[in-house]
Amino acid sequence: MSIKGLISASQLSRGDIEKYIKVASRFAKRNLPIKAKNDPPIISLFFFEESTRTRVGFIAAAYRLGMEVINVTEAKFHERMGRAESLEDTIRSIQSYCDLICMRHPDPEVFNSLDLILEKPVINCGNGDGEHPTQALIDLYTIYKEFNRLDNLKIAFIGNPRYSRSAHSLIIALSKFKNIEIRTISPKELYFSNEQRKAYLDSGNILEETTEMHAGDMDVIYVTGFPAILPIKTFSQKMQARYWITPEVVKTFKKGAVVLCPLPRIDEIDPAVDGDSMAKYFSESKNGLYMRMAILNKFL
Ligand code: CP
Repeated sequence: MSIKGLISASQLSRGDIEKYIKVASRFAKRNLPIKAKNDPPIISLFFFEESTRTRVGFIAAAYRLGMEVINVTEAKFHERMGRAESLEDTIRSIQSYCDLICMRHPDPEVFNSLDLILEKPVINCGNGDGEHPTQALIDLYTIYKEFNRLDNLKIAFIGNPRYSRSAHSLIIALSKFKNIEIRTISPKELYFSNEQRKAYLDSGNILEETTEMHAGDMDVIYVTGFPAILPIKTFSQKMQARYWITPEVVKTFKKGAVVLCPLPRIDEIDPAVDGDSMAKYFSESKNGLYMRMAILNKFL
């Protein structure tokens, strides 16, 4: 693929991840707008699926960096919005008005179809159930802040690793680090596919899979959403509830463990857990601002 930007976590080397974390930490410490000189860069947001954190987070990050933002909401990519125009034509036209595109789209293959069209750097803000590499960087930044390391970690993926784009990018990114033990805790049908786990297993790190909620020895509890209806089948409320994080479940986690979640949280984490010192998902969301600043800073 010839697209510039960040489409997949597989593009990130260990050094890249460490650099992103360093730059995000610097932005977090300064906590000040860093104004671009003269003509500020313009970023365009193309979100063909709902988003709160990623869309607003990139807008806020761009403003913090003194950039200008075009939030494309009225493109005629859908019949509902008037006469439909192809995504390719929309992108061809709009990219000449901006310096970088942040895009979310329901099709996991969307970047393959745009490969020869995109001239500006593109940040993949989620492509269907494919990947969410910027979320993986936010997750790793949060883990680094909590543990001061990204090697030698035990990480549980709870709920729905198979259809979580955040989990897909995170397992790929974790393959760049050493002595990682991942345990997926989910129904068997929701274990990572062979393709999703390949890069990680090739790195020599360990993957265990279990249907039982057994995470008492894990450093990081990564909770992925578990919608009732998934492409393979519909899961009962009773089955989903086996993987919910409740105060009783949190009591089984070891001291110093952290609970992360890319959010939105629907019912996978009981709000009664929010006040627990292990609950770090809202800090994770806040860290997203600084990591998104680091990502824009890298490409502009
Ligand atoms: N984590 C995440 O991608 O959240 P949004 O869907 O709100 O952007």
